[in-house]
Amino acid sequence: MEGRMIAFRSGVQVCPLGQGTYQMGKRRGEEIRALRRGIDLGMTLIDTAEMYDTEDLVGEAVRDCRDKAFIVSKVLPGNASYEGTKRACERSLRRLGTDYIDLYLLHWIGPHPFAETVRAMVELQQEGKILHWGMSNLDVADMERILALPHGEDCAANQVLYNMRDRGVEYDLIPWSRQRQMPLMAYTPLGEGRLRDHETLVRIARRHDATPTQVMLAWVMRKPGLIAIPKAGSTAHVEENFRSLDISLTDEDFRDIDAAFPAPSHKIPLAGW
Ligand SMILES: NC(=O)c1ccc[n+]([C@@H]2O[C@H](COP(=O)([O-])OP(=O)(O)OC[C@H]3O[C@@H](n4cnc5c(N)ncnc54)[C@H](OP(=O)(O)O)[C@@H]3O)[C@@H](O)[C@H]2O)c1
Repeated sequence: MEGRMIAFRSGVQVCPLGQGTYQMGKRRGEEIRALRRGIDLGMTLIDTAEMYDTEDLVGEAVRDCRDKAFIVSKVLPGNASYEGTKRACERSLRRLGTDYIDLYLLHWIGPHPFAETVRAMVELQQEGKILHWGMSNLDVADMERILALPHGEDCAANQVLYNMRDRGVEYDLIPWSRQRQMPLMAYTPLGEGRLRDHETLVRIARRHDATPTQVMLAWVMRKPGLIAIPKAGSTAHVEENFRSLDISLTDEDFRDIDAAFPAPSHKIPLAGW
């Protein structure tokens, strides 16, 4: 996996395949085992948020391997004032049972000025409570506003909706992020599991002796700087997803995917929450 690692500008590296946790909690024991199996395999980036109600589950999953895990959490927009961001971070740290978050994101744009949220993020970073900070659901124009703020150039990452059905970010946000060596996390990379019966994906999967899910993940991770964070609730799914790192899609595969799921030919406003 070494050659495939994604580097933040800090020099910290992660596997391009991480693990989501939205809607976990219904099968807690199995989900914790799944997250731990993923970490053992090298999928150490775990994505949570104060909104998901999964921070304590993530904390339990990483209890014996905190130093290996790269925890991403998010502040809710309504809490993202200067003081509110700091308080939300303290609450997340308590629920996670850790004294630092590897990457702390603003979940999406809300009522508070970016300048307040960023000032809090910068201070949290200086205090060692977060190691990196970043944004989620921000398009190019808003990312430009972040970068123009004091310390804004320290913004480490952005997390956006990206899968075969939602390719708008290819038009500008992916190249923009790449130019700035800013990793982009692709959320809902499996289209919430709804794309896997698509005839084109089934056909491509057969060529690789793989599954449509693995093809979707290999496709998201084909671009440098992209991190896919599928949510998988079982060890079997985690292991299946991990094997997507071994798939090299061919020109024929890319042509078939482009025919079924066309790339954007013009600016498309960021999709998502
Ligand atoms: N920043 C944001 O605003 C934002 C928004 C949405 C999501 N996210 C993050 O992104 C993560 C992923 O997105 P998502 O949860 O919306 O959707 P997703 O990862 O695209 O899809 C999850 C679905 O795929 C299924 N799945 C996973 N691996 C599979 C496999 N090998 N075979 C068959 N089915 C499989 C899961 O089922 P099982 O559970 O049964 O494995 C689940 O139903 C979230 O968990 C969250 O951490 C962030």
